Amino acid sequence: MEFRRINGLPPYVFAQIDSLKMQARRAGVDVVDLGFGNPDIPSPDVAVEKMAEAVRNPKNHRYSASRGIPKLRQAVADLYLRKFGVELDYESEIVTTIGAKEGLSHLMWVLLGPGDTALVPSPSYPIHIYAPLFAGADVRHVRLGVPKPGGEEASIVPVPGGSAAPEEEFFENLMEAWESVWPKPRVIVISFPHNPTTACVDLAWMTRLVRFAQEHEVVLVHDFAYSDTAFDGYKPPSILQVPGAKDVAVELYTLTKSFSMAGWRVAFMVGNKEIVGALTKLKSYLDYGTFQPIQIAATVAMNEAGEYPKEVNEIYQSRRDALCDGLTRAGWPIEKPKGTMFVWAPIPAPYKEMGSLEFAKYLVSEAEVATSPGVGFGPGGDGFVRFALIENEKRIAQGVRNIKKALTKLEEG
Ligand SMILES: Cc1ncc(COP(=O)(O)O)c(C=O)c1O
Repeated sequence: MEFRRINGLPPYVFAQIDSLKMQARRAGVDVVDLGFGNPDIPSPDVAVEKMAEAVRNPKNHRYSASRGIPKLRQAVADLYLRKFGVELDYESEIVTTIGAKEGLSHLMWVLLGPGDTALVPSPSYPIHIYAPLFAGADVRHVRLGVPKPGGEEASIVPVPGGSAAPEEEFFENLMEAWESVWPKPRVIVISFPHNPTTACVDLAWMTRLVRFAQEHEVVLVHDFAYSDTAFDGYKPPSILQVPGAKDVAVELYTLTKSFSMAGWRVAFMVGNKEIVGALTKLKSYLDYGTFQPIQIAATVAMNEAGEYPKEVNEIYQSRRDALCDGLTRAGWPIEKPKGTMFVWAPIPAPYKEMGSLEFAKYLVSEAEVATSPGVGFGPGGDGFVRFALIENEKRIAQGVRNIKKALTKLEEG
């Protein structure tokens, strides 16, 4: 059968690692799973309690509001004011989405169509590439934090604290891409702290991009999935902290990582009124909104568990330290990222030629550790594997010991 939108999709490389992991587990092997970014930390108790209570009320069993119930949108407005000093009108500047992924996907239907172009970082969280493609648009990949094509090993391993500044090079690459694309791109997708490269930016960087967008009438879409996942005192900026950003920008804010509520599927698109209005309208045709008890519980999470993201973050920071320090001691030096729940690890030189997929497969079979091969995030990601910090420190230490043994074996063999 012909499925025109689907047939052109490349095989999902993460699925290959996942099936190796499942095979190994079925054979009784205790694989340390640092592959998929699926948080293992429980959601806040207040949200769970509220959910249990709300689900018993038959009034909550009906269709809910597609754009989100008013109290939920008000809770987001309050959170943005508290956290970022950004004022949002809950009626016109916030729409609830079924996770950031759904929000991004349908947002691209609103913004783009055949003949339009989006600039997207490479490597990227896959939906940043596929959402514009599903909308029928062209995607121009803009290199972020990986060596330049042509061979020379630029010092662009995206490690905060290192000498290179991946975000600076990315900005230059964006400008170059802008110059060379015609017709001019309608959308620029960004996401900082960045999955998978862990690159981070400051408010001055965001301000430069907003000024550029204002001058050139391009829409900025900022996926802010790791708004709270930042370490060593670094505070990721919301793009809406830039004065005037609402003229050109929207931002996706999700409870998935901050509140460890991945399965609940609650996120928001906030910012430019016209774009919020357009997505709200599209969604009113497509869905009836998230189950109301979930919306009620999510409201309570934001209003009453405001400190929870900090607790979650401390856990990720300890795991980050365990992994980076452990791998460095094992002879695979890795600098610590400033943000995200990932570690983006350049494949050590002797194994680079294997490519990231083969190397990740090797890690499953010989080290009993699952990672995500960098190539799954686009061609710009080969040469790296991504570790997700979704197992506890003890398990991470076990994984590091196994990796050390496997790498030694590879060297000897
Ligand atoms: C950059 C980025 N955006 C969005 C998501 C998914 O967010 P949600 O669960 O809200 O769809 C993830 C999850 O890993 C992510 O890394």
